[in-house]
Amino acid sequence: MQKLLLKNIKNLVSVYEKAPITLKGKEMGKLPCIENAWLACDSGLIADYGSMDDFPGITNWKDLEVIDCSGKLVLPCFADSHTHIVYAGNREQEFVDRINGLSYEEVAKRGGGILNSAKNLRQTSEDDLFEQSKQRLIEIIKQGTGSVEIKSGYGLDLESELNMLRVIKRLKALNWIPVKATFLGAHALPQEFKTNKQGYIDLIINEMLPAIEKEKLADFIDVFCEKDYFTAEETKQILMAGKKHGLIGKVHAEQLSHTNGIKTAIECDAISADHLEFCNDADIALFTKSKTMPTILPGAAFFLNLPLPPARKMIDSGLAIAFASDYNPGSSPSGNMKLMMSLACIQYKLTPEEAFNAVTINSAYAMQLEKEVGCISNGKLANLIITKEISSYGYLPYAFGSELFDKIIINGEIWRL
Ligand code: NIG
Ligand code: FE
Repeated sequence: MQKLLLKNIKNLVSVYEKAPITLKGKEMGKLPCIENAWLACDSGLIADYGSMDDFPGITNWKDLEVIDCSGKLVLPCFADSHTHIVYAGNREQEFVDRINGLSYEEVAKRGGGILNSAKNLRQTSEDDLFEQSKQRLIEIIKQGTGSVEIKSGYGLDLESELNMLRVIKRLKALNWIPVKATFLGAHALPQEFKTNKQGYIDLIINEMLPAIEKEKLADFIDVFCEKDYFTAEETKQILMAGKKHGLIGKVHAEQLSHTNGIKTAIECDAISADHLEFCNDADIALFTKSKTMPTILPGAAFFLNLPLPPARKMIDSGLAIAFASDYNPGSSPSGNMKLMMSLACIQYKLTPEEAFNAVTINSAYAMQLEKEVGCISNGKLANLIITKEISSYGYLPYAFGSELFDKIIINGEIWRL
């Protein structure tokens, strides 16, 4: 593998001798940087870095590729801890239906929503699904994402859920960026079980989970804890069953109403509870005593015009919070993490430093990738963004529609797809 040297970097952002696991409360406001820096990558990892003032020389490096980063910033890639990028087709028509007055819930009740995506997916071959999903993976890498979590949940029967997870496994096997797989069989109640919810839960527990364990298809298990979807009790039942099969929990919690998803996530030691539009003060207090990462998905709240989760209050209460894209066809058809940073600043009143930490260090923790990615530190994966010539990192969320990345480095090499 080629060695790569980035030199004359205007600002090397998020640099740590000892990388933090998460950043909480006031710590989220800090972003350590080195001005006029160099950074070396070897065997796909960050090998060393420092100030150009004490640049050690490169005499013992053979086959070295050098990139002059004058005027440019170098950042760790974004860590997107919540996506549904394996899906078939799109739901553009539902977007128009909502513009014309229907709510997300009304669209779902008419057979649209998640069930619409399930219908599409079941009519799509595994190879076609893989190709469509691969294009989305390429899209988000170009937009600066250097690690990602991907969920199933548009299959909703044994074979289709396994198909989705096998596609995620194939995306993992490309060895582009780290991919974590989440089993989200409990995303909605499929038509076949319309009048027999416990029957579907039994199918998840007794048939899907053992098959998933056998093929080692998932890292996490997730549930959509919501009115008309799965109750807190059902969520608990499913997460505890997942635990027996080695899967760590995640929860879609308090998105459209308050249904105790956060409380359940914490009781089940989930690694994250996501969405949080209806998170209240009692939930914030629960988070402060837990290791569960509150994760905000600003794309979905924006796209569905939902109330905003209390992000500022969470940080001011001393919490760590993560932001992720929720890239999916129904509620957030974008995986652009730079845009998520802009929303974090503009709508949620995070500072650029807080927003950057929320989409890197804290979101890496939310998918158990805190050792591999999240910041600039020796031994971390060399998944990096080289910006165009810009004034400072605050310009990234500020110029919310501009393309500001010059090069993406993945595994220590320039990304060319
Ligand atoms: O995270 N909230 C549940 N699931 C997805 C949306 C799924 C869909 O509409 O296809 C979400 O927003
Ligand atoms: Fe989601």
